[in-house]
Amino acid sequence: MLTAGMVCDRTNALAHEITEAYRGRTPHLLCVLKGASIFYMKLIDMLHQAAARLGSPAHAVPFTFDFIRVKSYEGTESSGHVRIDGVEPAKLAGRHVIVVEDIIDTGLSMRSLLPMLREHAASVEVCTLLEKRTSRSCGLRARYTGFSIPDHFVIGFGLDYDEAFRDLEHICVINHTGIERFRDFGASLAESKA
Ligand code: IMP
Ligand code: MG
Repeated sequence: MLTAGMVCDRTNALAHEITEAYRGRTPHLLCVLKGASIFYMKLIDMLHQAAARLGSPAHAVPFTFDFIRVKSYEGTESSGHVRIDGVEPAKLAGRHVIVVEDIIDTGLSMRSLLPMLREHAASVEVCTLLEKRTSRSCGLRARYTGFSIPDHFVIGFGLDYDEAFRDLEHICVINHTGIERFRDFGASLAESKA
């Protein structure tokens, strides 16, 4: 388990690294919805604090931001198909993009997204909260990584199991009982609304 406190400390360190690396530039932070949203908010908060500590000039814009959807997972398995919505790569011309991701597992999502962005942006790096140590990895590595974790399905801090558990404060491994009980949770919510 990774507690909220551990995630907070590590995010602070990443924010520091990013602030140093991008001094004098205005990086464009691209949040991969929905999983990275909580990490993204934390990172933004920490980037503000880091900029204040380092005494950035008042007129400097520390970063700009936008959101993108990249979907590859069905339940606890990567589907192998990646759907990308919400990005107009041409608008990123000349920008220094940092893709903010919750977790890199096989790396296929990022491997599909990054070439599209790199066609236009001046630079593209990835900042991921988690990286899974798995034999299914395509070898893609992020420039900034919060934690390297063993090959288990994890939930919490924005990460879901079929839309459940994004709201957990800490990051945990979901057990077999949880997997069975919350299978098709997203669909059951939609049914209960109808
Ligand atoms: P990849 O394309 O296999 O690297 O998968 C990346 C995406 O799958 C992540 O952005 C997550 O949204 C999702 N994902 C992968 N592993 C997990 C996990 O353990 N828990 C929750 N979501 C995961
Ligand atoms: Mg994700």
